[in-house]
Amino acid sequence: MRTTSVADDDEGISMSTPPTVLVTGASSGIGKGFATRYARQGHDVVLVARRADRLDALAAELENAHSVTATVVSADLPDPTAAETIGEHLDREGIEVGILVNCAGFGTAGPFIEEDPARLADEIAVDVVAPTLLTRRFLPSLVAAGTRGALIMVSSTASHQPVPNIAVYAACKAYVTSLTAAIWKELSGTGVRVLALCPGPTDTEFFEAAGSDRFKSDGSARSTRSSTPRSRPSTVAVIPS
Ligand SMILES: NC(=O)c1ccc[n+]([C@@H]2O[C@H](COP(=O)([O-])OP(=O)(O)OC[C@H]3O[C@@H](n4cnc5c(N)ncnc54)[C@H](OP(=O)(O)O)[C@@H]3O)[C@@H](O)[C@H]2O)c1
Repeated sequence: MRTTSVADDDEGISMSTPPTVLVTGASSGIGKGFATRYARQGHDVVLVARRADRLDALAAELENAHSVTATVVSADLPDPTAAETIGEHLDREGIEVGILVNCAGFGTAGPFIEEDPARLADEIAVDVVAPTLLTRRFLPSLVAAGTRGALIMVSSTASHQPVPNIAVYAACKAYVTSLTAAIWKELSGTGVRVLALCPGPTDTEFFEAAGSDRFKSDGSARSTRSSTPRSRPSTVAVIPS
């Protein structure tokens, strides 16, 4: 349940209510971790992914454990209308998103010349187009949340350099880190925190979804750079307590 507002600000967000957090990729792995952590801290959450059964189970678990409202939105993110459809749905429900975690993603691996073009198109749509359009759709409400607003883009250590055999995945993540850095600069003075999370190999369903062990042998585990230049936003995700 939402906590009762003491006084609403001009944008209609209660100053006493933690902002609602939209997490894409909430059905497993890192996204599920973000959703769980935020709910534990009293944030209402919007859970987005394709597997509605998993989202429903997580929503029930979070609502029971933490007395928050968890809204499930089952969506296939390669659909270029997904961001607007999700936004319109939440508008109708009266849900204003103050924190956006763009986490959904997957990778393809193998020599570029052998890659399936349709799968590459899907990868670019999920890893690049979807977080771009979701960020564009929700950025005004993040800015309205001011210092309580946050944008977290889940990128990768693979974003810091070209990586043969996961060329498209690394290029997608380079885009994500670059986009995040630019938005971070544009939002300076708004109070909104902007973070590019760049994980190394993390034990999730990612490798199973990729259908290849090349990520373990060639991928972000072998990244030679573990930090970003000072002109970029923090690459460490910090969920405020
Ligand atoms: N694990 C790692 O080693 C690692 C390292 C660096 C960066 N990352 C990044 O971390 C993020 C999360 O990955 P993870 O490790 O947590 O992997 P994961 O366990 O496989 O989770 C991926 C999530 O993305 C969602 N997703 C995939 N395709 C989608 C689509 N078409 N529409 C909507 N949602 C979709 C999945 O949900 P559904 O299948 O239910 O749709 C799932 O919730 C990704 O962006 C990944 O690139 C992971």
